[in-house]
Amino acid sequence: MDKKDFYLDAIRDVVPTQKEDQIQDVFYSFLEIEHLYDSAIELVKTQLNIFDNEFSMRFQRNPIHNIESRIKTPQSIVEKLQQKGMPVTPESAKENLTDIAGVRVICCYINDIYAIAELLTEHSEFHLRKVKDYIKNPKANGYRSFHMIVDVPVFTSVRKESAPVEIQIRTIAMDFWASLEHQLHYKSTGDPQIASTLTDELKECAKTIATIDLKMQDMFQQINML
Ligand code: GTP
Ligand code: MG
Repeated sequence: MDKKDFYLDAIRDVVPTQKEDQIQDVFYSFLEIEHLYDSAIELVKTQLNIFDNEFSMRFQRNPIHNIESRIKTPQSIVEKLQQKGMPVTPESAKENLTDIAGVRVICCYINDIYAIAELLTEHSEFHLRKVKDYIKNPKANGYRSFHMIVDVPVFTSVRKESAPVEIQIRTIAMDFWASLEHQLHYKSTGDPQIASTLTDELKECAKTIATIDLKMQDMFQQINML
C-alpha cells in the first residue's frame, strides 16, 4: 500500500461520513504536518551532530553514541487523539500532541546527558517547553532517561513555523533496559505470576544499571586524569 492510501485509510477509519474532497483536504494537511515535523527532527539531529563533532574536535571524544528518530504514524496520531478525547484533525494533532516527532540520543556517560541537555537549552534556536528528569526521579518500574520537549523553529518557503520535538536522552545501559521493558509491556503473558516476577527482576536490573552507570562515569573521569 502506498503512503497516500495508507493515510487515506487512516482518515476514512475515523471520519467515515466525510465527503471524498474533504478527506483529500485532511490528507494534504496531514502531509504538511508530516513535512513540518520531519524537518524539525532533521534540525535537532543536525544541531546534535554539530555539538558531537565539536566535542570530538576539542576533546577527542564523542559524547553521543548514536541518535535515533521516529515520527508518529497517522494511525497512532489518530488513536492518541481519540484516547485523549480530542478532535481528530491535523490542527488538533498539532495543538494537543507533543510527541509526533521524537529524537532519542544515546550517550556513553550520565554527565554527557546533562551536557547535551544544557547545550540544547542554552546554545540553540530551540525553546525549552518541558523537562522530565527520570534519572534524578526514576519511574516506579525503574525507567530512567532525561526527557525534554523543545519547540523547533522551521522556516518553510512561505512562513516560519514551530514544531515540538520530544527528545529522550539516556545512556547505553538505560537504553538497553528500556528496550527490554518495552517488550515486556507489549507481551501479554497468560500467567500473572510470571509477569510480576519479570517486573520485579527488571526493577532490580534498573538499580544495578544505575550503579554501573555511576561507576563507569567515575572510572572514565579517573582514566582521563591519568
Ligand atoms: P506518553 O503519553 O506515553 O507519551 O507519556 P507522557 O506524555 O507522560 O510522557 P513521558 O515523558 O512519561 O514518556 C514519553 C515516552 O518515554 C514514551 O512514549 C516512551 O518512549 C518513553 N517511556 C516513558 N516511560 C517509559 C517506561 O516506563 N518504559 C519504557 N520502556 N519507556 C518509557
Ligand atoms: Mg509518547
